[in-house]
Amino acid sequence: MAEKKVIAVIGATGSQGGGLAQAILDDVNGGFACRAITRDTAKEKAQALAAKGAEVVKADLDDAASLERAFTGAHGVYCVTNFWEHFSAEKEKEQAKNLAAAAKAAGAKHVIWSTLEDTRKWMAPDDTRMPFLQEKYRVPHLDAKAEADAYFAGLPVTYLLTSFYWDNLYAFGLAPKKGGDGVYHWVMPMGDKKLAGIAAVDIGKCAYGIYKAGAEYTGKTVGIAGESLTVAAMGEALGKALGIRVNYEAVEPEMYRGFGFPGADELGNMFQVFRDFEKEWMGARSVDLAKKLNPALMNFGQWLDAYKGKIPLE
Ligand SMILES: NC(=O)c1ccc[n+]([C@@H]2O[C@H](COP(=O)([O-])OP(=O)(O)OC[C@H]3O[C@@H](n4cnc5c(N)ncnc54)[C@H](OP(=O)(O)O)[C@@H]3O)[C@@H](O)[C@H]2O)c1
Repeated sequence: MAEKKVIAVIGATGSQGGGLAQAILDDVNGGFACRAITRDTAKEKAQALAAKGAEVVKADLDDAASLERAFTGAHGVYCVTNFWEHFSAEKEKEQAKNLAAAAKAAGAKHVIWSTLEDTRKWMAPDDTRMPFLQEKYRVPHLDAKAEADAYFAGLPVTYLLTSFYWDNLYAFGLAPKKGGDGVYHWVMPMGDKKLAGIAAVDIGKCAYGIYKAGAEYTGKTVGIAGESLTVAAMGEALGKALGIRVNYEAVEPEMYRGFGFPGADELGNMFQVFRDFEKEWMGARSVDLAKKLNPALMNFGQWLDAYKGKIPLE
C-alpha cells in the first residue's frame, strides 16, 4: 500500500482543525494521515487525537521555525489563526505570515488558508455606517484574514471562506437569553436578513474534501455554508427543538456595539456586514459545493438534532 500523505493540521484541538483531524482519522483507507499541531501535546484533546492515531506535534503560530519543523514532510497543511485569543488584527496577520512562510519552506503541496473577506471593499472610506476599529479595519478579524491572503500567493493554496458557526450558540455565548417572563430573547442586529451558517465540524470535513480533490481547488477560493436562514427562522427552529419560546429582537448594530462585552463592537460591525451586504456574503458561499465536498453536511435542523443538548438554557 502506498504511504499515506500527511496533512499537518493547525488548530487540531479546536473547531475547524478538529473537524479536519476527525475526518482524516475516520477515513482509515482514505490515503491521508493526520499530524495534529498544538502548543500543548499533553492536553486532553491532543492526547485524544493521539489515541485515535494522529501524530501529535508541538508548534506555535508565533514561532515560525516551530511551524516549519511541524510542516516538514507534510503533503497538506491546514492554516487557521485564532483572532479571539488575542483580539489583534496585526497579530493575526503576523501569525498568518509565519504559516505561509513555513508552508513554503517545507514545500507543502496543498495549503488551505482559512480566510474571510475584506469588508472594506463594500464601504467607501467615508461611509459612516460603522466605526473603524483598530484604526483601519471595519471588522478586524475578517479584514486581517483577507489582507493575509497575500502571504499565501504563489503557494499551491485554496482560500477557504467559512461561515458563522451555529456552535457559537453554546461556545460563544450567543444563544437566546431567558427573560423574567420565561421567554428566551434573542437580541441580534440582523434585521430580516439571512445569516449564512455552518456546523463548525463541517468546515474541517469540507477541507478534507478539498485535499481529496487534489489540484481541482488549488489557486481557487472556495466558500462554504450549511444553510442560510433569518434569525427569526433560526429562533423558531430553536424554540421547537428545545421546547422553549424564542423571541427574536432585531436591534440596530449601533446598540449592539454598545453592549460592552469583550468584542461587542467587533461583532456589531460583523453582523452589520452580514445584514447590509447579505447578497454579497451569501453569494460567496455555496451549500451545494459544501455538500459536494462533504456529503454529510448538516443543515440547521440537523445540527440542532445533534447539538441542542449543548445549548445553555439560562
Ligand atoms: N466562530 C465563528 O463563527 C467563526 C466563523 C468563521 C471563522 N472563524 C474564525 O475561526 C478562527 C478560530 O478557529 P477555531 O474556531 O477552529 O478555533 P478554536 O476552536 O477556538 O481553537 C483554537 C485553535 O487554535 C490553536 N491555536 C491558537 N493559537 C495558537 C498558537 N499561537 N499556536 C498554535 N496553535 C494555536 C489552538 O491550539 P492549542 O491551544 O492546542 O495550541 C486551537 O486548536 C478565528 O480566527 C475566527 O475568526 C470563526
